[in-house]
Amino acid sequence: MYKHKDLLGIREMSAEEIGFLLDTAGPMKEIIKRQIKKVPTLRGKTVVTLFYENSTRTRGSFELAAKYLSADSINMSGSSSSVAKGESLYDTGRTLQSLGADVIVLRHPMPGAPRLLARSVKAAVINAGDGAHEHPSQALLDMFTVREKKGGLAGLRVVIVGDIMHSRVARSNIWGFTKMGAEVRVCGPSTMIPVGLEETGVQVFHQMDQALDGADVIIMLRIQKERQQQGLFPGLREYSRLYGLNRRRLELAAGDALVLHPGPMNRGVEIAADIADGSQAVIEEQVTNGVAVRMALLYLLTGGGAQ
Ligand code: CP
Repeated sequence: MYKHKDLLGIREMSAEEIGFLLDTAGPMKEIIKRQIKKVPTLRGKTVVTLFYENSTRTRGSFELAAKYLSADSINMSGSSSSVAKGESLYDTGRTLQSLGADVIVLRHPMPGAPRLLARSVKAAVINAGDGAHEHPSQALLDMFTVREKKGGLAGLRVVIVGDIMHSRVARSNIWGFTKMGAEVRVCGPSTMIPVGLEETGVQVFHQMDQALDGADVIIMLRIQKERQQQGLFPGLREYSRLYGLNRRRLELAAGDALVLHPGPMNRGVEIAADIADGSQAVIEEQVTNGVAVRMALLYLLTGGGAQ
């Protein structure tokens, strides 16, 4: 069961709750494979996506998820709403609630913003990415994709490569895969790995060839080019040479290893184009599964799990 009002992070979820959410996404995927992708489940409910940062995948899939479940949906961005006139997150949330929102999906650059909003409104709040903190629905769709392909998560060797320090995707996936019994390795330059991360049970590597040894799942992270100004890595070419996933490196992993990337990708930097388009990549399936997982979230957070 998932009995919480909101989805704020994977950290506060139990393995049972994660498993239940992934189980609920299975039938949702059946719906999106149909020719007519529409069920009346959320008729009369209102879903608002409120994005203070750019997004293609997360926003698009939450919007589609709401539509496939027959909810009414409105989409707001920081730049096109009264936020641009200085309205606070609290007042924006209360206004959306007065407009009838049952669910508010929030992306915000400040860690903790979804928690603040969740305390301020009766509507369910879904964290769609808060700064470098968490991106729980991304981790859920990653786990759904891997579980679908591998039949389970326990015992898998999952390697996350890149800027772990600034990645909300990495943080949510570390919590998620660890709770589900996978062995999690992270790999990147020491400037991009938080000090003390080993204490969470994660293995830290700085040499990619060593990290990939026997990997069942490889999650490549986007290199955030803006970090280059901060001197966290010498240059894109150097980064690619040390931490880019190419054919030779992929062969160090298990023969049936899966390659994931949350997107958007920098082809030729963190991932070679032939790997991104290759048979082991499940990057496009991640996007499709994102709709199913977000349908499950909207369903459960509007009381579906209690029915
Ligand atoms: N994975 C992800 O969050 O992508 P978007 O920024 O396009 O939503």
